[in-house]
Amino acid sequence: MALRTIITEGDPVLAKVCRPVEKFDDRLHILLDDMKETLADANGVGLAAPQIGILRRVAVVIDAEDNPIELVNPVIIHEEGEQTGLEGCLSVPGKYGVVTRPMKVTVRAQDRNGNTFEVSGEEITARCFCHELAHLDGHLFTELAQELYTPDELDAMEEANS
Ligand code: NI
Repeated sequence: MALRTIITEGDPVLAKVCRPVEKFDDRLHILLDDMKETLADANGVGLAAPQIGILRRVAVVIDAEDNPIELVNPVIIHEEGEQTGLEGCLSVPGKYGVVTRPMKVTVRAQDRNGNTFEVSGEEITARCFCHELAHLDGHLFTELAQELYTPDELDAMEEANS
């Protein structure tokens, strides 16, 4: 396994639409292992392949039990409810924004061996599914946020409200 470099906002790769995975081979397995290691190292809850410069429909999301879910060719097949909250991205370091997402999301995807499965998530996991899948179509959360804040600005807002 190896750590990959996470690319950041402004890199045109992040705006591209990723291609589906067709081969469930060692190369895909190495990619998934590296993504999990890179995600853990960055202390994140989700990572999409384009964030490490790979234009394939692959993402990893950390679930509510802290386990990584490997998603290959994922699609959202059901969503319900709504949640509005702060969101950030490893590719947009130091900036956070308020984004409205579904409260519950079901994703259909393939695992690293090509087997199709479905997985549901609520709250932060649902938010993460939406966020990571958007990366695969070249979209960042910053497109959905009204305003972006730095951690210092968030602290100041919290203090003002307490
Ligand atoms: Ni992101």
